Amino acid sequence: MRKKIEMNVSLEVYPPQEWTDEDRILTEMAKAIMEKAHAPYSDFLVGAALLLDNGEMYAANNQENVSFPVGVCAERAVLSYAVGNRPQSRPVKIIIAAKKRLSERYATVTPCGLCRQTINEYEIKFNSPIQIMMLHPDGDLLVASSVETLLPFRFNDLNA
Ligand code: THU
Repeated sequence: MRKKIEMNVSLEVYPPQEWTDEDRILTEMAKAIMEKAHAPYSDFLVGAALLLDNGEMYAANNQENVSFPVGVCAERAVLSYAVGNRPQSRPVKIIIAAKKRLSERYATVTPCGLCRQTINEYEIKFNSPIQIMMLHPDGDLLVASSVETLLPFRFNDLNA
C-alpha cells in the first residue's frame, strides 16, 4: 500500500510598511552591493545582506568566473565571510536582491540549491532557523522562516 509523506510550505509577503528598521537597512545594503557584482557572463546581479545575532550586518554579491562553475553566489559569499569572521555569532536573516543589468526592475530571486544547502549548514551549526527574505519586483519581501521552506526534504543529519 503506497502512502504519501507531505510537507506543506509557504512564503509570507511583507509589504514595506511591515519591515523592521533592520529589514530596511539590509535591503538597502543588498541593493547597493548588488550593483557591484562581478557578473560579466550572466549579467544577472545579485546582492545578499546578512544580519548576525550580535547586530553586525555583512553584504556580498555574486562573483562569476570565465570557468562558469567556479562562480560563487551572493548568498554563499556573504555567509562564508560573515561566519568565517564571526564563528560564534548566529546568522538571523539574509535579504537578497537581484536584477538583470540595465533592467529597471528587480528580478524575483530565490537562492539556488547550493545556497539552500549552505544556509542549511548554518542552521545546523547554530541550531536555529535563518529567515530568508527575497526582494520582489513589486517592492515586497517574500519571507521564508527557515531553509526548510525552500528545501523541504533536505539532507541535514549524518546519523539519521
Ligand atoms: N546567483 C546568485 O548569486 N544568487 C542566487 O540566488 C541566484 C543566482 C548568481 C549566480 C550567477 O552568477 C548568476 O546569479 C546567474 O545565475
